[in-house]
Parts: sequence; C-alpha cells; structure tokens
Amino acid sequence: MKTALIAGGTSGVGLSIAKALLRKEYEVYLLGQNKPKGEAIEMLLNKSFSGNAHFIRVDLSNISEVKSFSKNFSEKHDKLDVLANVAGVMEETRKITKEGFEKTFAVGYLSAFVLATQLAPLLEKASHARIVNVAGVASFVFKAKLDFDDLTFSQNYSSFKTAITTIHAKTILTEILADKYASIGVDVNSFHPGAVRSNLMNNMGGWKGLLFRIVGKLMSQDSKTGIYASCSAELEGVTGKYLDKKKIIDLNFDNDYKQQLWDESEKLIRSVS
Ligand SMILES: NC(=O)c1ccc[n+]([C@@H]2O[C@H](COP(=O)([O-])OP(=O)(O)OC[C@H]3O[C@@H](n4cnc5c(N)ncnc54)[C@H](OP(=O)(O)O)[C@@H]3O)[C@@H](O)[C@H]2O)c1
Repeated sequence: MKTALIAGGTSGVGLSIAKALLRKEYEVYLLGQNKPKGEAIEMLLNKSFSGNAHFIRVDLSNISEVKSFSKNFSEKHDKLDVLANVAGVMEETRKITKEGFEKTFAVGYLSAFVLATQLAPLLEKASHARIVNVAGVASFVFKAKLDFDDLTFSQNYSSFKTAITTIHAKTILTEILADKYASIGVDVNSFHPGAVRSNLMNNMGGWKGLLFRIVGKLMSQDSKTGIYASCSAELEGVTGKYLDKKKIIDLNFDNDYKQQLWDESEKLIRSVS
C-alpha cells in the first residue's frame, strides 16, 4: 500500500489532495495543529475510505516539534511515497514564534524544509517517491524576492508579501531538492493549486477577509493541479519543475540564490534543537 504524508492536509488544497489519494487507496497521514478539526476530518474521511486516513497533530510553526515528529514517523514507517507540503497561513499582523521565526515563514517554508530533508531516507525506500510543494502564481506576478538579511520580515510587514515570499522560497527549494534527490529517485515539483476553497483568510478582518470569504464560497473544493502533481503516473521522472494546470514549467532560479537559501535554511534549522 502506498503511503502519503500531507502537511496541511485538513483543509483547502491539502484536503483535496488527501481525498484524491484516499480514492486511490493510499494510506494518508494528515498533519494539522487543530486537534478537534483534524479528528473530525479524520472521522469523516474514514466513513468513505475504510480507515486509511490518520490525523496527527503537529504544530508546524514549532520547528523542534517538526523535527521530533519526523524522527518518530521515520521510526514507525518503512517507506513514504508522497510528501505534500501544503500547509500555509496568512497572518494579519507579524507574529514571531517562541523559536524566533516569523510564523508564516516557519509554517510555510521551514517546516517543509525539515520534512523534506529529514524524511528523505524514507522517501528513498519507496519506488519513485515524490515531494510536492504548493506554490502560487502570485509570487511571480508580484516578483517575490527573499531578503536574506531579514528572514523574520521585520521591515514593512505585509501579510500578503510575507505569504508570497514564503511560497517563493518553497518554489526555489523545489529546484534545490530536485537536484539533490535525483540520485535517490525522488521527484520534487511545485505546483500552483488554482483557486481552491480555503480557510486561509478565516482570521483576516476587514473588507479583505469579508471579500475573500464571499468569493471563497464560489471556489472549487478541488485542486486539480495539486492532485495531478501528487499522483499522476505521467509525471513519473519529472522533477524540478513548476506545474500550472498540465503545463510543466522550468523556472531555473539563479544558482547563487539557491545556494544562499540552502545555507541560510540549514543555519536556521540548526539553531533549534
Ligand atoms: N486556496 C487557494 O486558492 C490557494 C491558491 C494559491 C496558493 N495557496 C497556498 O496554499 C497553501 C494552503 O492554502 P489553503 O488554501 O489550503 O489553506 P487552508 O484551507 O487554511 O489550509 C491550511 C492547512 O495548513 C494547516 N496549518 C496551518 N498552520 C499550521 C500549523 N501551525 N501547524 C500545522 N498545520 C497548520 C491547517 O491546519 P489547521 O487548521 O490545523 O491549522 C490546514 O490544514 C497556502 O500557502 C496558500 O498560500 C492557496
């Protein structure tokens, strides 16, 4: 039986991927921080998918918790076929975690870095495993760029800018990991999920939050590209790409920029036990 781990699998894009993989009889582990919500989703999914959905509570903004989760998960499993990094938040005001990270960046990027690096041995044990990272067209439209001197986003904080910069980092990480994991047979791609019904703006106040909630109700519950990226057989061997619908796109980030992100990420992750 194939196994998938979906960071952020309890709503929006992640839940859509979870349902598709369950339909294909994967054993699916859903990570989220909200225990009652996660357990309710697990119960609902298991009514249709014979006990193959498992919720695990992990706070992905807490990097030492993500590290210990990865260690425990590796000890309990023989292999992992799909790792989907789709957790994300948008914080109206800048929040710093007790480990000193900006929260959006910790949930959306640093946790993905830890899961992808620490679970690599488990992914290597599966045949043609894949990592899929949620990205987004907005990071290109608005030309997101990382400021390596300010990865806590202390200057002119904006929830939108921080969210798209976080996604931009995950898109770069995709290319880095694709190179690193080519020799172990793990494909790594990022994808634009499309417009998917979401809880992302639930905490957002004012007209922006209201507008998003109204428009959100009209959005699809499925991320077709997320599902395609996670389990389409025709993508076997495709790696280091950005997927938008069925378009397979080369982004080719600058090598020095990629190296700098890798070095900074390792430094940040090493700084917590
Ligand atoms: N929806 C779209 O149309 C769209 C379009 C482009 C890009 N994206 C990107 O896709 C990502 C996911 O968006 P979404 O629409 O799926 O959002 P969502 O419906 O709010 O789902 C977010 C998921 O992340 C989890 N999560 C958030 N903070 C967490 C934490 N600290 N620890 C553990 N899990 C945590 C949530 O679980 P809990 O509820 O337990 O916190 C939930 O499962 C975001 O980065 C977003 O920018 C979405």
